[in-house]
Amino acid sequence: MAIERTLSIVKPDGVWNGHIGDCVSRFEKAGLNVVAMKMKTLSRAEAEGFYYVHRERKFFGELVDFMTSGPCVLMILEGENAIARNRDIMGATDPKNAAPGTIRADFAQSIGENTAHGSDAPETAAFETSWFFAGTEINKVVRR
Ligand code: CMP
Repeated sequence: MAIERTLSIVKPDGVWNGHIGDCVSRFEKAGLNVVAMKMKTLSRAEAEGFYYVHRERKFFGELVDFMTSGPCVLMILEGENAIARNRDIMGATDPKNAAPGTIRADFAQSIGENTAHGSDAPETAAFETSWFFAGTEINKVVRR
């Protein structure tokens, strides 16, 4: 199984509801290593560029409004099959459809305020990690 990197975001609702630690704990307990991390209030340009694949969707403005409404915690997670495993830990995009015990089932309010984001494929993971992190901000983390 390949070692992958994926972008994880604790969205503004996750921050203001006090779930940063819950999210990080779930990733770490699943064996994913946090190799880069920062808290950032996104500008509209940063959020619009990050979500450009959704630019034609009717919810795009609402998505950008929400993602710029407060600080996010941005992380790169690394580990075997990290992209799919992060998405399993988050659960389905709409919390109504998220499996019990997932981040979105436990903490999210709605499809818009859904607590966490994770890259959905290797190509998007490469784009999304580089959108927020320089190579020099990515660390080597080895578990003991
Ligand atoms: P995310 O995984 O960050 O990727 C794109 C986001 O768009 C998604 O999570 C949702 O928060 C948001 N989104 C998707 N569909 C809708 C929708 N119908 N209404 C509002 N927001 C949506």
